[in-house]
Amino acid sequence: MNIQTENDKIPQHIAIIMDGNGRWATEKGLPRTEGHRQGAKNVRVILEHAKERGVKYVTLYAFSSENWNRPKEEVNVLMELFRKYLKEDVADLQKNKVCVSFIGDRARFPEDMQERMNEVERETADYDDFHVVLALSYGARDDMIAAIKRIAMDAMDRKCMISAINEQVVNDALSTHGIPYPDLVIRTSGEQRLSNFLLWEIAYAELYFTPIYWPDFNEQDLDIAIEAYGRRNRRFGKV
Ligand code: IPE
Ligand code: IPE
Ligand code: MG
Repeated sequence: MNIQTENDKIPQHIAIIMDGNGRWATEKGLPRTEGHRQGAKNVRVILEHAKERGVKYVTLYAFSSENWNRPKEEVNVLMELFRKYLKEDVADLQKNKVCVSFIGDRARFPEDMQERMNEVERETADYDDFHVVLALSYGARDDMIAAIKRIAMDAMDRKCMISAINEQVVNDALSTHGIPYPDLVIRTSGEQRLSNFLLWEIAYAELYFTPIYWPDFNEQDLDIAIEAYGRRNRRFGKV
């Protein structure tokens, strides 16, 4: 097997639905929030391993637009975890020259967190070895609605002809613009649904579901998912 073939078997972009924190904790007799704490710790492990394996982009679904509907106490704990993550873990990513960006409705977060997100994006924008995209307060439908509005405005202002609207125009209007489509979507915890994650972008992604809860999903489990991806025959409509 030559190097080119090897590389083709490594997904360039992995998107992960990090699910099962609550059940992980509940099954251990712990409060759900303890699962979120363990889950947050696991992010570092998986990102480091993905980078080592030659993956170039990892998008992490950390908080959906719908997750705002959870009990206030749980949302508050998650906010504190995100704030800490942005301060400490993201600073380490910056030190390691990782390009970090955010998708989702950041206006719903407290001002200090929004400022930190903007700052991190600005400061890491030129790094290109490894990209981490954090989906926070993200919902694919919301993102698509925002894109439709942008395109409609451009059409109204005659900046874009309706007949010129194509896949590229839509890509450019989404918050994921500039990021290649995910090749592999991993969802932990046994649920087999997308829960409003990257609907447009994963039209042709390989889907991989594992029963393992996110806090327990380790390097070896990521290798198993990557190997499963490598065995898939990606056809893109061809024979
Ligand atoms: C994923 O774990 C983390 C978030 C959605 C913030 P869950 O909190 O959804 O855990 P389960 O699915 O209830 O076990
Ligand atoms: C999806 O998980 C969102 C994240 C993992 C951040 P949920 O646990 O919120 O999804 P549903 O409610 O089971 O579909
Ligand atoms: Mg869940």
